[in-house]
Amino acid sequence: MTLDDLSRHQILELLHKAAYIDAHRREVSHTCDGRVLATLFYEPSTRTRLSFETAMLRLGGKVIGFAGAQLASVTKGESIADTIKTVSNYVDAIAIRHPKEGAALVASRAASVPVINAGDGGHMHPTQTLADLATLQSRFGRITDLTVGLCGDLTFGRTVHSLIETLCRFGNVRFVLISPDELKTPQYVIDRINATPSCSYVEVRDLVSVIGDLDVLYMTRVQKERFFNEDDYLRLRDTYILDEAKLSLAQPHMAVLHPLPRVNEIAVEVDDDPRAAYFEQVKNGMLMRMALESSVIGDELPGYVPLEPKEV
Ligand code: CP
Repeated sequence: MTLDDLSRHQILELLHKAAYIDAHRREVSHTCDGRVLATLFYEPSTRTRLSFETAMLRLGGKVIGFAGAQLASVTKGESIADTIKTVSNYVDAIAIRHPKEGAALVASRAASVPVINAGDGGHMHPTQTLADLATLQSRFGRITDLTVGLCGDLTFGRTVHSLIETLCRFGNVRFVLISPDELKTPQYVIDRINATPSCSYVEVRDLVSVIGDLDVLYMTRVQKERFFNEDDYLRLRDTYILDEAKLSLAQPHMAVLHPLPRVNEIAVEVDDDPRAAYFEQVKNGMLMRMALESSVIGDELPGYVPLEPKEV
């Protein structure tokens, strides 16, 4: 499942549901009783895997899976498709993270249960986007009519690609794409912006000259694991470091997002600034995964009143 499989109304419904779950944690704690989720993580993860698993446990469900392909039969040469066909017999849904772009799509075609993309290479990370949208919604009361700066590794940063694609579906966003030439946004993502008449973009290298224009600054880590050449990584990794001095040039209402993990790109001193929203994103990630899991394999949330179905 990717966010393209969901209508705009369904995405807004997940935001609404996550807010309800946050306020009614005890009441929703049996929504996934008797259900099992598999987390198949072929790549390292702290937030995504643990929040998928915590979400399931908090809904009354159970979890199986592996963290690190070295413990799975892929080391014996098993294909993704065979693994997924096997695990489909054991569980009600599968969350998969894999270093190869398109792996989640391959998995979904082999599966007989819903498959959720928990990050495929440098391509997409749709459930991180759900966390990002929830953070924008709570900070601004909306996910449109924003100037969104995305800064750092825009080539390999899958969270950036997912977020841009999804914001384009809602429209009215001005993107400021801040990166060195070597880490610019891929053409297929630019094409998505160009295909959205209410959205626009500029590409710049300098963060300081644009930070004052932004409602949102989405910082990203330079993705060391996707570089072919370590020298290139070492040259580019510290291109952007957001510190208090740079943040002093930003508007008071700006929100700083980061999918985490961070390396050096946000100084720790920024964590205490009210504009720092990245640990809110972490909390929202778990709530949005609870909303998603309950929607995909759970029962109705007790007492929950769905959003009015209307075109947005
Ligand atoms: N944001 C994110 O995907 O973090 P992890 O790699 O720790 O899951």
